[in-house]
Amino acid sequence: MTFCRITGTGSYLPGSPVSNDDLVARGIETSDEWIAERTGIRRRHFAADDEKSSDLALHACRRALEAAGRLAQDIDLIIVATSTPDQVFPSTACLLQNRLENRTAVAFDVQAVCAGFVYALTIAEKFIRSGSHKCALVVGSEVFSRILNWDDRGTCVLFGDGAGAVVLEASDEPGILSSVLHADGHYHDILSVPGTVCGGKVSGTPLLQMDGQAVFKFAVRVLGDTAIELMDAAKLPMTALDWLVPHQANVRILQSTARRLDLPMDKVVVTVADHGNTSAASVPLALDLAVRDGRIRRGQLVMLEGVGGGFTWGGALLRF
Ligand code: UT7
Repeated sequence: MTFCRITGTGSYLPGSPVSNDDLVARGIETSDEWIAERTGIRRRHFAADDEKSSDLALHACRRALEAAGRLAQDIDLIIVATSTPDQVFPSTACLLQNRLENRTAVAFDVQAVCAGFVYALTIAEKFIRSGSHKCALVVGSEVFSRILNWDDRGTCVLFGDGAGAVVLEASDEPGILSSVLHADGHYHDILSVPGTVCGGKVSGTPLLQMDGQAVFKFAVRVLGDTAIELMDAAKLPMTALDWLVPHQANVRILQSTARRLDLPMDKVVVTVADHGNTSAASVPLALDLAVRDGRIRRGQLVMLEGVGGGFTWGGALLRF
């Protein structure tokens, strides 16, 4: 049986941090107090006008490859999770493959919004376990600043840009112990960008809209359910978990989830204060941060969880 393990992580945040007060200075009718109290967010990063998802992804991938001791030529599968691709097509994964000077890896994008990275990781896991591929780059990269409605203070203060990546390789020892994915399109309209390009023009609304309270309740419920499902599938008790690395949208969502699972907050990796919500990039960004600062160590039991528009959600439990 072929298993698969994460052998390297990397991430990238563009530019300098933009504080809540900086947003006020830009004319948004909000306050540091409101944003910090309701969400835990203090700052976020925004890409420059000429920086695209593939640019952010390239930096994160180079760092992940270096950490894994791999060259871009070793990669035979590239999956990019993004809802803010560089172009309608080709995929950001193909553009990234070109920038990495790799001409052979299978490359495609996954669109599952903030659950995109766990979707991409689970797909890569299945490719590797089948024996068809051996060494994957799994990436979450977003420039959500491009799709924010700056006149909607209920959403524009929540998001940031960034990228995270992992190298996932075939292994004789188990790395990913269990993984689950879910979707329920019935909830398509509580978080969406309901626009597209049609006949050379934008059709519909090309900016993010959200029913914040509905999303909040949904996220708390499914993050808890998924964590239980992942531990049950691996036949392990919740107390065995060393680290929960959940999608970073709101610290209150993370606190409610930890309470429901009876998990102390010091086992939860929280980056939302410094990154805001970076959608598909948030989980690999948080993972890389906690690996590089020495919190997450080899052999520990780590759970990754995502939830986002669609609605889509899921996670993976792994022996790091
Ligand atoms: O990746 C998944 C994506 N998103 C999420 O997970 C987000 C989930 N939802 C949330 O995090 C929260 O629902 C929000 C942070 C978005 C909003 O928090 P809330 O406690 O649900 O606030 P609310 O929308 O009920 O608004 C409360 C008040 C309103 O004023 P009134 O009507 O009570 O006078 C809003 O107008 O706060 C006001 N408000 C703001 N005030 C200052 C909304 N946004 C802001 C703001 N600054 N940025």
